[in-house]
Amino acid sequence: MDPRLTEDKNKKLIEIKKTANLGGGQKRIESQHAKGKFTARERISMLLDENSFEETDSLVTHRSNEFGLDNQKFLGDAVVTGFGLINDRLVFVYAQDFTVLGGSLSEAVSEKICKIMDLAIQNGAPIIGLIDSGGARIQEGIDSLSGYAKIFQRNVIASGVIPQISVMMGPAAGGATYSPALTDFIFMVEGTGQMYITGPDVIRAVTSEEISHEDLGGSHMHTQLSGVAHFSFQDEEITLQKVRQILEYIPQNNMEEPLVSENVEIQPSEMLNEIIPDNPNEPYDMLSIINEIIDEDSIFQVHENFAKNIIVGFSRIAGQSIGIIAQQPEHLAGSLDVDASIKAARFVRFCDAFNIPLITFIDVPGFLPGVEQEKSGIIRHGAKLIYAYAEATVPKISILTRKAYGGSYIVMSSKNLNGDMNLAWPTGEIAVMGAEGAVNIIHKKDVTESKSPSDLKKELISDYEDKFMNPYVAASRGLIDDVILPSDTRNKIIKSLQMLQNKRQNFPPKKHGTMPL
Ligand code: HXC
Repeated sequence: MDPRLTEDKNKKLIEIKKTANLGGGQKRIESQHAKGKFTARERISMLLDENSFEETDSLVTHRSNEFGLDNQKFLGDAVVTGFGLINDRLVFVYAQDFTVLGGSLSEAVSEKICKIMDLAIQNGAPIIGLIDSGGARIQEGIDSLSGYAKIFQRNVIASGVIPQISVMMGPAAGGATYSPALTDFIFMVEGTGQMYITGPDVIRAVTSEEISHEDLGGSHMHTQLSGVAHFSFQDEEITLQKVRQILEYIPQNNMEEPLVSENVEIQPSEMLNEIIPDNPNEPYDMLSIINEIIDEDSIFQVHENFAKNIIVGFSRIAGQSIGIIAQQPEHLAGSLDVDASIKAARFVRFCDAFNIPLITFIDVPGFLPGVEQEKSGIIRHGAKLIYAYAEATVPKISILTRKAYGGSYIVMSSKNLNGDMNLAWPTGEIAVMGAEGAVNIIHKKDVTESKSPSDLKKELISDYEDKFMNPYVAASRGLIDDVILPSDTRNKIIKSLQMLQNKRQNFPPKKHGTMPL
C-alpha cells in the first residue's frame, strides 16, 4: 500500500474507523454482552431515530502513559459522542464505553463530553448522557478529577436552558454520580444501573454496616427511597424508549414552547360528578380523576414510586403539554410531607423553566403531623414548594376537588401565590383546619362547661361545616375564580389555557433568589 495515493488514504481511514467502532475490542464487547449490557454504540442506535447518529471525536485518544496506559490507547477513548434525532428533533448524546478501561473518565473523555455539551447549549437541544463507568480514571489522578469539574460546570450552565437527561446503565461511583444528579431527569435500568458515593468496603470500614455491592445504590433504592432517580425500567431497550417518550412533552430549550399534538375531542366525563366520596375521610384515586380529564393515555408520571402522596408528571390536554401536580388521597391521605414537598417543588421549577403550564389538583388535609417530619425539616422543605409555586410564571391553573386546609391550602397554587385560574368543585372545602379540630380549639370552654357536651359539639361542628367547609366563602372573596361541575373540568382547563397562552409576568431583576435549600 502506497500511503501517498488517494485510494490508499481512503482505505486507511476506513480501517481506522473500523477499529474505532470496536471500542475496547471484540473480547470486551462479548464480556459486556455477557453482563446483560449493550455497548455504547448499540445503545445510541436504540435511542436515536434510525441512521440519524453522527459521531464526533471518534479519533480522540487519551494522552497518559502512566501505569501501563501507553499500551492501551483506544480510538475514541471511553466515550462515544455525537448528535442525532429523536422523533425528528435534534439531540446531543454521549455514551460511556465500558469496554474501554471500564468507561473510566480520562482528561480526554471529559473534553469530548464537554465539547458535546457546549454544542448542545449553543444549539439549544437536549443533552442525553448514557452512564456506564468505573468513575475517575485512576491512572490519571487529578486530570480526571478536574475533568469531572468541567462537566459539572457545564451541567449548571445548561440547567434551565436545555433539558438534561441521564440514563444509568451500569455503575456510577463516587463523585461521578454528581453529573447525573445535576441533570433534570435520571433514568435507571433495573439490575444494572447503580449509583453510590461510597462503595461497600468504605461503608464497612467507617460504619461497620454490611452491604453487598449488588444491594448498593440500585434502582429500588433511588426511585423509591432516596428520590435520587426519577424512573426505572426493566431493561435497556424499554428505558431508552421511555427517554424518547419524555422528550415529546418538553421543548428543545427554554426559548421554545413544547410541541402541540393533535386535539382529540373528548366527551365530558359525567362520572366525575359522583366520584368524591360523601365521607370526607374516605380515600379515592386522584389518578382516575386526572385520567378522565386529560387526553387519553397521556400521563407520564415522574418519580412515580417516590412520595406517592403526591402525583407529578407530564400530560396533554387538547394536545398541549402540561405539568400535573396532584395530591393522592390514597397515600397518607394526600398530606404534604418532606418528600412530597421536594418532589413537587422540583417538578414545578422544571415546568416553569421550560414553558410548560402547571395544572394542580388539590385535596390536601394539611402537612403531615409528627415529630419525625419536624425533625426532618418539614418547615424548610415545605417552604421550597411555596417558593417554587410563587416564583413560577407559566400559566397556573388549579382544581380543588375536596380539602384545602391550613398552610397546605396556601401552598398548592393558591390565588395569592399568583394562581391564574383557581377552580373548585362543589365538594371543595377551604378552611384553616377540619371542623372537629376547629371546634375543639375555639369552643373548648363552651363544650366542657355545657350540660350536654357531645350534643353541643355536634351542633358546633355542623355550624362550622356550614360556614367554611365549602368553596363559596373563598369564591365570594375571589380566591376561587369559579365553582364548577366536575364534568366541566376539561373544558374549563382548555379555555383557561387558551386565555393564558400569551401570559407574561416579570419580577424585579436580581442575580438569583435565596431559595431555602
Ligand atoms: C481505570 C478502571 C476503572 C477506573 C474500572 N476500570 N474502573 N480503570 N480507572 N476507575 C477497568 C478495570 O481495571 C478493568 O480493566 C475494566 O475497567 C473493567 O472493570 P472490572 O472491574 O473488570 O468490571 P466489573 O467487575 O464490572 O466492575 C466494575 C466496577 C469496578 C464496579 C466499576 O471496576 C470498580 O469498582 N472500579 C473502581 C471504581 C472506583 O472506585 N472508581 C473511582 C471512584 S472515585 P481490565 O483491563 O482488567 O479489564 C471517583 C471520583 C470522581 O470517581 C470524583 C468526581 C468529582
